[in-house]
Amino acid sequence: MNWNGKTQGSQSVGLHLAWLLLVVSMGAGPAGRAELAGSAHDFSGEAWSGGDPCVVCHTPHGALQDESEAPLWNHELTGASFRLYASPTLNATLEQPAGVTRLCLSCHDGTVALDSFGGRTGNEMIGAAGRLGSDLSDDHPVGFVFDDNLAQEDGGLHPPSSTPSGLGRTIAQDLLRQGRLECTSCHDVHNSSNQPHLLVMSNRGSALCLTCHRK
Ligand code: HEC
Ligand code: HEC
Ligand code: HEC
Ligand code: HEC
Repeated sequence: MNWNGKTQGSQSVGLHLAWLLLVVSMGAGPAGRAELAGSAHDFSGEAWSGGDPCVVCHTPHGALQDESEAPLWNHELTGASFRLYASPTLNATLEQPAGVTRLCLSCHDGTVALDSFGGRTGNEMIGAAGRLGSDLSDDHPVGFVFDDNLAQEDGGLHPPSSTPSGLGRTIAQDLLRQGRLECTSCHDVHNSSNQPHLLVMSNRGSALCLTCHRK
């Protein structure tokens, strides 16, 4: 299921149709994101979700604008400004979280309630375990372009355009979003890989880290 091609035009009609097809196909079989059930992102057991596993984040109608990052987005977005990772050896140029990372932080920074979706303002805040806050200086850098030039400049990174990710294609294709390193480079929001911490792959022996880093 690759939306990259479909989302580029941001055709909401196309997305809407694709959305319906996906929801229908998910209902029909075990493929797709069956692993969402029972994961940390399965809110269907919460009274405030109305029992729907998708509606907290997506809606079939009246979506917010961020369709290039996630289809038919339904959750209120954070307006926080973030303290970014910094270090003397960092080569990348970081920007304020945007795109899919901003969607994640719309629950994980602890400023927007989990149940603020569908245009309604809620009051269930994320617990301490999942709260990153607005200080991201102690977290892996996110929100920057990771290309072969950066890998070369850094010296300790594999070139993303040609290095296999271990998930079937290259790092750039499987782990980056529009060429950028985001929260989704390491995490799968739907738990499709069924790994601890919603990781995109096992990090046993630092396997995830060593996909991009040489050391
Ligand atoms: C906690 C929030 C959250 C929940 C709950 C959630 N999604 Fe998503 N969904 C996202 C985000 C964020 C993206 C963008 C992910 C990315 O770019 O990797 C996304 C992307 C998608 C996509 C685009 C293709 C893909 O796989 O990335 C589809 C289709 C989708 N979600 C369907 C669903 C369905 C159906 C449900 C309910 C069974 C659901 N989602 C539940 C946050 C959520
Ligand atoms: C609708 C709110 C919401 C959104 C949007 C959301 N999350 Fe979460 N996430 C949660 C909650 C609630 C938990 C459970 C936290 C806890 O255990 O207290 C959680 C847990 C997690 C965990 C820990 C899972 C575990 O089993 O240890 C990770 C990792 C995570 N989220 C990553 C993401 C990423 C990456 C995105 C964006 C692609 C995202 N989340 C978007 C609400 C959200
Ligand atoms: C470079 C990989 C990487 C990136 C990027 C990344 N994470 Fe994580 N994250 C991890 C790993 C690995 C863990 C497993 C626990 C640990 O080592 O702290 C984790 C754990 C978590 C947890 C669970 C914390 C806990 O103590 O249970 C949450 C929530 C989370 N990440 C959210 C996010 C969000 C939101 C983003 C984007 C702002 C993000 N992560 C970006 C690798 C990453
Ligand atoms: C998808 C690729 C990718 C993955 C997976 C990844 N990283 Fe990174 N990491 C990068 C890139 C790119 C940078 C930016 C390097 C730079 O600009 O100097 C970075 C930066 C860092 C930095 C900061 C370096 C500095 O000079 O300040 C540390 C530390 C780090 N990563 C550790 C980890 C660990 C630990 C893991 C596994 C949990 C991990 N990374 C997983 C791509 C990745």
